[in-house]
Amino acid sequence: AIHGPALELPRAIAHRGLSARAPENTLAAVRAAHAAGCRWVELDVQLLGDGTPVIWHDAGVRRCSNGRGKLRRLDIERARQLDVGSWFNPDFHDERMATLDDMLALLAACDMGLNLELKISYKHDPAALAETVIPRALAALPPSRLLVSSFDRNALRSARRQEADPHRLRLGLLYDRLPRGWQADAEALLASSVHLDWRKLKPGTVAAVHEAGLQLLCYTANDPATFLPCWEWGVDAVISDDPTLFASTENLGIV
Ligand code: G3P
Ligand code: MG
Repeated sequence: AIHGPALELPRAIAHRGLSARAPENTLAAVRAAHAAGCRWVELDVQLLGDGTPVIWHDAGVRRCSNGRGKLRRLDIERARQLDVGSWFNPDFHDERMATLDDMLALLAACDMGLNLELKISYKHDPAALAETVIPRALAALPPSRLLVSSFDRNALRSARRQEADPHRLRLGLLYDRLPRGWQADAEALLASSVHLDWRKLKPGTVAAVHEAGLQLLCYTANDPATFLPCWEWGVDAVISDDPTLFASTENLGIV
Protein backbone atom coordinates (compact mmCIF):
# COMPACT_ATOMS: atom_id res chain seq x y z
CA ALA A 1 0.00 0.00 0.00
CA ILE A 2 1.23 3.49 -0.79
CA HIS A 3 0.75 5.79 2.14
CA GLY A 4 0.21 9.10 0.42
CA PRO A 5 2.44 10.87 -2.11
CA ALA A 6 6.16 10.21 -1.79
CA LEU A 7 8.09 12.62 0.37
CA GLU A 8 9.99 15.22 -1.59
CA LEU A 9 13.41 14.12 -0.52
CA PRO A 10 16.62 15.48 -2.02
CA ARG A 11 18.84 12.80 -3.53
CA ALA A 12 21.40 13.25 -0.76
CA ILE A 13 20.82 13.85 2.96
CA ALA A 14 23.53 15.09 5.35
CA HIS A 15 24.29 12.33 7.88
CA ARG A 16 24.37 13.74 11.46
CA GLY A 17 24.50 17.14 9.74
CA LEU A 18 27.45 17.85 7.48
CA SER A 19 29.53 15.56 9.68
CA ALA A 20 32.47 15.50 7.27
CA ARG A 21 33.10 19.17 8.00
CA ALA A 22 31.73 19.85 11.49
CA PRO A 23 31.19 17.85 14.71
CA GLU A 24 28.32 15.41 14.14
CA ASN A 25 24.82 16.10 15.45
CA THR A 26 25.57 19.71 16.44
CA LEU A 27 23.99 23.02 15.46
CA ALA A 28 27.30 23.78 13.72
CA ALA A 29 26.92 20.63 11.59
CA VAL A 30 23.45 21.70 10.52
CA ARG A 31 24.57 25.27 9.78
CA ALA A 32 27.41 23.80 7.71
CA ALA A 33 24.94 21.58 5.84
CA HIS A 34 22.73 24.57 5.12
CA ALA A 35 25.70 26.67 3.96
CA ALA A 36 26.75 23.82 1.63
CA GLY A 37 23.31 23.74 0.02
CA CYS A 38 21.93 20.62 1.68
CA ARG A 39 18.16 20.70 2.10
CA TRP A 40 17.79 17.75 4.51
CA VAL A 41 19.79 16.38 7.41
CA GLU A 42 19.67 13.12 9.33
CA LEU A 43 20.09 13.48 13.11
CA ASP A 44 19.94 11.10 16.08
CA VAL A 45 17.83 11.91 19.13
CA GLN A 46 17.90 10.45 22.67
CA LEU A 47 16.81 11.45 26.18
CA LEU A 48 19.14 12.58 28.94
CA GLY A 49 18.56 11.17 32.42
CA ASP A 50 16.36 14.16 33.28
CA GLY A 51 14.17 13.53 30.22
CA THR A 52 15.54 16.32 28.02
CA PRO A 53 15.67 15.24 24.36
CA VAL A 54 19.10 15.93 22.84
CA ILE A 55 20.75 15.35 19.49
CA TRP A 56 23.31 12.61 20.14
CA HIS A 57 24.36 9.30 18.61
CA ASP A 58 26.22 7.24 21.23
CA ALA A 59 25.09 5.77 24.55
CA GLY A 60 27.96 7.69 26.16
CA VAL A 61 29.73 11.01 25.71
CA ARG A 62 33.35 9.88 25.48
CA ARG A 63 33.78 9.76 21.71
CA CYS A 64 32.24 13.15 20.90
CA SER A 65 32.97 15.35 23.93
CA ASN A 66 35.62 16.20 26.52
CA GLY A 67 33.66 14.24 29.15
CA ARG A 68 32.90 10.61 29.88
CA GLY A 69 30.02 8.52 31.13
CA LYS A 70 26.55 7.54 30.03
CA LEU A 71 24.04 9.92 28.51
CA ARG A 72 21.33 8.56 30.82
CA ARG A 73 23.39 9.67 33.83
CA LEU A 74 23.49 13.32 32.68
CA ASP A 75 21.05 16.15 33.24
CA ILE A 76 20.86 19.13 30.89
CA GLU A 77 22.93 21.38 33.14
CA ARG A 78 25.85 18.91 33.22
CA ALA A 79 25.44 18.05 29.55
CA ARG A 80 25.65 21.72 28.54
CA GLN A 81 29.03 22.02 30.28
CA LEU A 82 30.58 19.57 27.86
CA ASP A 83 32.65 20.75 24.92
CA VAL A 84 31.24 18.68 22.06
CA GLY A 85 33.31 20.28 19.30
CA SER A 86 37.03 20.13 20.14
CA TRP A 87 37.27 16.38 19.56
CA PHE A 88 36.53 17.14 15.91
CA ASN A 89 38.52 20.36 15.56
CA PRO A 90 39.61 22.98 18.16
CA ASP A 91 37.80 25.65 16.13
CA PHE A 92 34.54 24.14 17.43
CA HIS A 93 35.45 24.36 21.15
CA ASP A 94 32.39 26.54 21.91
CA GLU A 95 29.95 23.93 20.59
CA ARG A 96 27.50 22.60 23.16
CA MET A 97 25.22 19.56 23.05
CA ALA A 98 22.10 20.56 21.10
CA THR A 99 18.70 20.05 22.64
CA LEU A 100 16.03 18.81 20.25
CA ASP A 101 14.17 22.09 20.73
CA ASP A 102 17.17 24.23 19.74
CA MET A 103 17.78 22.00 16.74
CA LEU A 104 14.16 22.10 15.57
CA ALA A 105 14.18 25.90 15.82
CA LEU A 106 17.31 26.08 13.65
CA LEU A 107 15.88 23.68 11.06
CA ALA A 108 12.60 25.57 10.91
CA ALA A 109 14.44 28.89 10.50
CA CYS A 110 16.50 27.40 7.64
CA ASP A 111 13.48 25.73 5.95
CA MET A 112 15.34 22.44 6.15
CA GLY A 113 13.99 18.92 6.20
CA LEU A 114 14.78 16.41 8.94
CA ASN A 115 15.20 12.66 9.01
CA LEU A 116 15.05 12.22 12.78
CA GLU A 117 16.38 8.87 13.98
CA LEU A 118 14.95 7.66 17.29
CA LYS A 119 18.13 6.15 18.72
CA ILE A 120 17.56 3.53 21.43
CA SER A 121 20.66 2.94 23.53
CA TYR A 122 20.96 0.21 26.18
CA LYS A 123 18.47 0.81 29.04
CA HIS A 124 16.71 3.63 27.19
CA ASP A 125 12.89 3.52 26.93
CA PRO A 126 11.60 3.59 23.33
CA ALA A 127 8.09 4.75 24.27
CA ALA A 128 9.35 7.58 26.49
CA LEU A 129 11.57 8.80 23.66
CA ALA A 130 8.80 8.78 21.05
CA GLU A 131 6.27 10.37 23.39
CA THR A 132 8.67 13.22 24.16
CA VAL A 133 10.06 13.76 20.70
CA ILE A 134 7.20 13.32 18.25
CA PRO A 135 4.88 16.11 19.47
CA ARG A 136 7.79 18.58 19.46
CA ALA A 137 8.92 17.60 15.97
CA LEU A 138 5.37 17.76 14.59
CA ALA A 139 4.88 21.21 16.11
CA ALA A 140 8.11 22.57 14.63
CA LEU A 141 8.20 21.18 11.09
CA PRO A 142 5.63 20.62 8.32
CA PRO A 143 4.82 16.96 7.50
CA SER A 144 6.58 17.31 4.13
CA ARG A 145 9.87 18.09 5.88
CA LEU A 146 9.88 15.43 8.59
CA LEU A 147 10.72 11.74 8.36
CA VAL A 148 11.11 9.77 11.59
CA SER A 149 13.14 6.56 11.47
CA SER A 150 14.42 3.94 13.89
CA PHE A 151 15.99 0.51 14.10
CA ASP A 152 13.66 -0.04 17.06
CA ARG A 153 10.13 -1.30 16.22
CA ASN A 154 8.79 -0.26 19.62
CA ALA A 155 9.98 3.30 19.13
CA LEU A 156 8.22 3.44 15.76
CA ARG A 157 5.05 1.93 17.18
CA SER A 158 4.98 4.59 19.89
CA ALA A 159 5.65 7.27 17.29
CA ARG A 160 2.70 6.05 15.21
CA ARG A 161 0.50 6.18 18.32
CA GLN A 162 1.37 9.89 18.62
CA GLU A 163 0.06 10.55 15.10
CA ALA A 164 -2.05 7.91 13.39
CA ASP A 165 -2.28 9.65 10.00
CA PRO A 166 0.58 8.51 7.72
CA HIS A 167 0.27 11.73 5.72
CA ARG A 168 0.95 13.80 8.81
CA LEU A 169 3.80 11.67 10.15
CA ARG A 170 6.15 9.78 7.83
CA LEU A 171 7.90 6.80 9.34
CA GLY A 172 10.97 5.01 8.00
CA LEU A 173 12.06 1.47 8.91
CA LEU A 174 15.80 1.19 9.50
CA TYR A 175 17.53 -2.14 8.88
CA ASP A 176 20.99 -3.12 7.81
CA ARG A 177 19.46 -5.38 5.16
CA LEU A 178 15.81 -6.29 4.45
CA PRO A 179 14.74 -8.93 6.98
CA ARG A 180 11.96 -11.46 6.60
CA GLY A 181 8.67 -9.81 7.48
CA TRP A 182 9.63 -6.27 6.52
CA GLN A 183 6.36 -5.82 4.60
CA ALA A 184 4.36 -6.69 7.70
CA ASP A 185 6.39 -4.14 9.71
CA ALA A 186 5.73 -1.50 7.07
CA GLU A 187 2.02 -2.25 6.95
CA ALA A 188 1.61 -2.27 10.73
CA LEU A 189 3.43 1.04 11.11
CA LEU A 190 2.05 2.69 7.96
CA ALA A 191 5.67 3.40 7.05
CA SER A 192 6.60 5.42 3.98
CA SER A 193 10.22 4.36 3.55
CA VAL A 194 12.84 1.72 4.22
CA HIS A 195 16.41 2.75 5.11
CA LEU A 196 19.16 0.19 4.43
CA ASP A 197 22.93 -0.14 4.56
CA TRP A 198 23.97 0.52 0.96
CA ARG A 199 26.80 -2.04 1.13
CA LYS A 200 24.30 -4.85 1.65
CA LEU A 201 21.93 -3.76 -1.10
CA LYS A 202 21.13 -6.28 -3.84
CA PRO A 203 19.78 -5.41 -7.30
CA GLY A 204 16.29 -6.75 -6.54
CA THR A 205 15.91 -4.95 -3.23
CA VAL A 206 15.00 -1.57 -4.67
CA ALA A 207 12.29 -3.00 -6.92
CA ALA A 208 10.78 -4.96 -4.02
CA VAL A 209 10.62 -1.86 -1.83
CA HIS A 210 9.14 0.24 -4.63
CA GLU A 211 6.56 -2.44 -5.41
CA ALA A 212 5.39 -2.14 -1.81
CA GLY A 213 4.89 1.59 -2.43
CA LEU A 214 7.76 2.67 -0.23
CA GLN A 215 10.80 4.83 -0.83
CA LEU A 216 14.31 3.43 -0.30
CA LEU A 217 17.03 5.43 1.42
CA CYS A 218 20.58 4.15 1.91
CA TYR A 219 23.14 4.95 4.61
CA THR A 220 26.02 5.88 4.88
CA ALA A 221 27.80 6.36 1.56
CA ASN A 222 30.70 8.73 1.02
CA ASP A 223 32.09 7.56 -2.31
CA PRO A 224 29.90 8.53 -5.29
CA ALA A 225 31.74 6.20 -7.69
CA THR A 226 31.07 3.01 -5.73
CA PHE A 227 27.51 4.16 -5.02
CA LEU A 228 26.67 4.52 -8.72
CA PRO A 229 25.00 1.08 -9.08
CA CYS A 230 22.58 2.03 -6.31
CA TRP A 231 21.33 5.00 -8.35
CA GLU A 232 20.98 2.71 -11.33
CA TRP A 233 18.87 0.28 -9.29
CA GLY A 234 16.63 3.23 -8.36
CA VAL A 235 17.55 4.15 -4.79
CA ASP A 236 15.64 7.30 -3.88
CA ALA A 237 18.16 9.00 -1.60
CA VAL A 238 21.57 8.55 -0.03
CA ILE A 239 22.49 9.55 3.52
CA SER A 240 26.08 10.83 3.39
CA ASP A 241 28.59 12.52 5.69
CA ASP A 242 29.20 14.85 2.75
CA PRO A 243 26.31 15.17 0.28
CA THR A 244 28.25 17.71 -1.76
CA LEU A 245 30.38 14.83 -3.05
CA PHE A 246 27.28 13.53 -4.82
CA ALA A 247 26.37 16.84 -6.43
CA SER A 248 28.14 16.03 -9.69
CA THR A 249 26.95 12.44 -10.14
CA GLU A 250 24.05 11.74 -12.46
CA ASN A 251 23.71 15.47 -13.28
CA LEU A 252 21.16 15.74 -10.55
CA GLY A 253 20.60 18.77 -8.46
CA ILE A 254 21.43 16.12 -5.98
CA VAL A 255 21.73 18.02 -2.69
O1 G3P B 1 19.75 6.82 9.82
C1 G3P B 1 20.78 6.24 9.10
C2 G3P B 1 22.02 6.03 9.94
O2 G3P B 1 22.28 7.19 10.70
C3 G3P B 1 21.88 4.83 10.85
O3 G3P B 1 23.07 4.51 11.52
O4 G3P B 1 24.60 4.57 13.45
O5 G3P B 1 24.71 6.39 11.76
O6 G3P B 1 22.79 6.26 13.33
P1 G3P B 1 23.82 5.47 12.56
MG1 MG C 1 21.60 7.92 12.63
